[in-house]
Amino acid sequence: MIDLLKHDSDKLPEIFEEVVTQSIGYLNDINKRSTNSQYNSGSFSALPETGLGTLETIHRFNQKFEPGIIATSGPRYLGFAIGGTTPAAIAGDWLTAVYDQVPFAAQDHSGIAVKIELEAIVLLRDLLRLPDTFRGGFVSGATMANFTGLATARQWWGLQYGKDIAKDGMDDSIKILAATAHSSVVKCLSMLGIGSRNIQMIKTVSADREAVCINGLIEKIEQLNGEPFLLVSSAGTVNTVDFDDLHSVSALREKYKFWWHIDAAFGAFAVCSPGYAHLLEGWEKADSIAVDCHKWLNVPYESAVAFIHHSHQQLQVNTFQNSNAPYLGDPLVNFSYMNFLPENSRRLKALPAWFTLMAYGKTGYQSIVENCIERAFQLGDYITTSKHFELLAEIRLNTVCFTLKGSAPAERIDNILASINSSNKVFMTPTFFNGRKGIRAAFVNWRSSSEDVEIIISVLEEVVASKHSIPL
Ligand SMILES: Cc1ncc(COP(=O)(O)O)c(C=O)c1O
Repeated sequence: MIDLLKHDSDKLPEIFEEVVTQSIGYLNDINKRSTNSQYNSGSFSALPETGLGTLETIHRFNQKFEPGIIATSGPRYLGFAIGGTTPAAIAGDWLTAVYDQVPFAAQDHSGIAVKIELEAIVLLRDLLRLPDTFRGGFVSGATMANFTGLATARQWWGLQYGKDIAKDGMDDSIKILAATAHSSVVKCLSMLGIGSRNIQMIKTVSADREAVCINGLIEKIEQLNGEPFLLVSSAGTVNTVDFDDLHSVSALREKYKFWWHIDAAFGAFAVCSPGYAHLLEGWEKADSIAVDCHKWLNVPYESAVAFIHHSHQQLQVNTFQNSNAPYLGDPLVNFSYMNFLPENSRRLKALPAWFTLMAYGKTGYQSIVENCIERAFQLGDYITTSKHFELLAEIRLNTVCFTLKGSAPAERIDNILASINSSNKVFMTPTFFNGRKGIRAAFVNWRSSSEDVEIIISVLEEVVASKHSIPL
């Protein structure tokens, strides 16, 4: 062992004390930390000939990068759909690194890690009120959860024609129907060789909605004349958080032959609130569902779950099996995650989820979800009474899409958004909806409080009052 490693392992208490102190400092001051940064960390470091050791490396990191770390996990970071991190999830995440388990193989190879993952799936399934007919596994994000569902769907589609696409590849085009598919779904179609151009867009309920028009969908399905197809439904579009009518779609299962995938990256968590649970009615009839944990479950990145109906286990294995590794045994008998998911080796992503689900339970998540929704409506109330702004879309859950009143040019909206973000107190992202440019604010963090919304409102007021942000 090199001296530095020996030295570091003898200094573990000091190293961890340093890391703990720094972590507490970051988390306690997160409300004050900037939400935006133009910090310049200088040129790239050269690889040291002789290493620095951990304590000196922490010091270097703090000098070079730490001041540029922004409060993405703070209460006023409203860009994209960035979740926060609960204390329990962080504890679970730390221990994940410490234990460094690999939950890929059956228990005789992977120890208790697979059991932990299976239990975390049961807890999450419970939280989401999904039936035990769904099996699940952790992947890095909703993109990979969509990928897992759609890869298995591709295998199902091949089977309808007596083909094994995993083995023989594709020589036909699959029809995919969707109304407002997330960009990651389109990306998955590219990655899967299905082809992003093969998605057929179904009209939405109306111009100011992103949810699928059920009659339009039926019309399209009828045109397929019994041809099997894949349907991707949205349970919470990223832009306006619109939900396809899952109940009506579930009824179509009786009549038509299709694989039903639901992208419920963050919308899944609406089920935690009795007032919003109806939005997911019917989703239990899906074949596959993508749920992001690093969004509304508030665990650190990277964490998501691909749920797939248990009746498709063989298809899933046919898609993901390491088939030239007979020493791994039959995956259906000797369960191993590496034959059910895209990745083979992976960290114990389930542990932070297990920690936070156990620590806060059903009522904890109900209050996290309801708090975020309340914050969105609080901001929405300001927008609807404001002299300067108006809503771009109805608020349906946790996201507010708004724009300047009247027909402001796009550059003016860009300018306003740039001014909001350069306040360093709040971060939002741009959007375009129903032919208009706008600004989007998503509440996905347990920390966001009513006071935070007051701060956000004061930033908006300052920005519209400032001559710099609105060129006359
Ligand atoms: C509806 C939806 N699906 C999929 C994704 C992709 O998630 P990830 O970035 O975790 O892969 C997102 C991310 O915002 C999303 O909102």
